[in-house]
Amino acid sequence: MNQITTRWAEFADVENIAHLVNTAFRPERFFIDADRTNPDKVRTLLEKGKFLLAEEAGALVGCVYVELRGERGYFGLLAVDPTRQRTGMGSRLVEAAENHCRAAGCLFMDLTTVNLRKELPGYYRRRGYVESGTLPFPDDQHPPEMPCHLVRMSKPLN
Ligand SMILES: CC(C)(COP(=O)(O)OP(=O)(O)OC[C@H]1O[C@@H](n2cnc3c(N)ncnc32)[C@H](O)[C@@H]1OP(=O)(O)O)[C@@H](O)C(=O)NCCC(=O)NCCS
Repeated sequence: MNQITTRWAEFADVENIAHLVNTAFRPERFFIDADRTNPDKVRTLLEKGKFLLAEEAGALVGCVYVELRGERGYFGLLAVDPTRQRTGMGSRLVEAAENHCRAAGCLFMDLTTVNLRKELPGYYRRRGYVESGTLPFPDDQHPPEMPCHLVRMSKPLN
């Protein structure tokens, strides 16, 4: 395998980020029959936060969106190319997001998962996160095919 490098995204990366996220999030198609995002939505996120990118031989293979919200950090759209999953890349991106928020003075990190994704809470619990509440499914996303909500998970960044 080639070496994986990381860098912060620029606006020129929005198409590639949207493509990677939509490819990685295909497991959500059983409850949302649509792409997870598009270049315009990624551009809007880049105006209030950052995307950390993982690249292999110049190709985008992983990303995570990170936002500073006062004393709390938030990460989302964690996506690893399906051919690169289970190699530790997701863990590495989460750790980098946490380091970024900690360095910016955040005391906690938050994320949300859709309650229908049964495998995800375990993945995040093994990385120090605990369930910290629920939120309605966002109305700016494509309407889901079945009732669902978001589960918030949090971790202290000390
Ligand atoms: C969720 C997601 C980001 C995880 O990324 P990933 O790179 O596959 O995750 P990791 O490789 O860090 O960890 C996956 C598992 O593989 C194991 N693993 C890590 N390196 C490994 C290796 N070299 N060989 C075998 N297994 C390995 C890890 O121990 C981990 O298992 P654990 O949770 O029991 O500890 C990825 O599956 C993905 O993109 N999914 C689709 C999008 C999505 O659901 N995003 C999250 C929405 S909240």
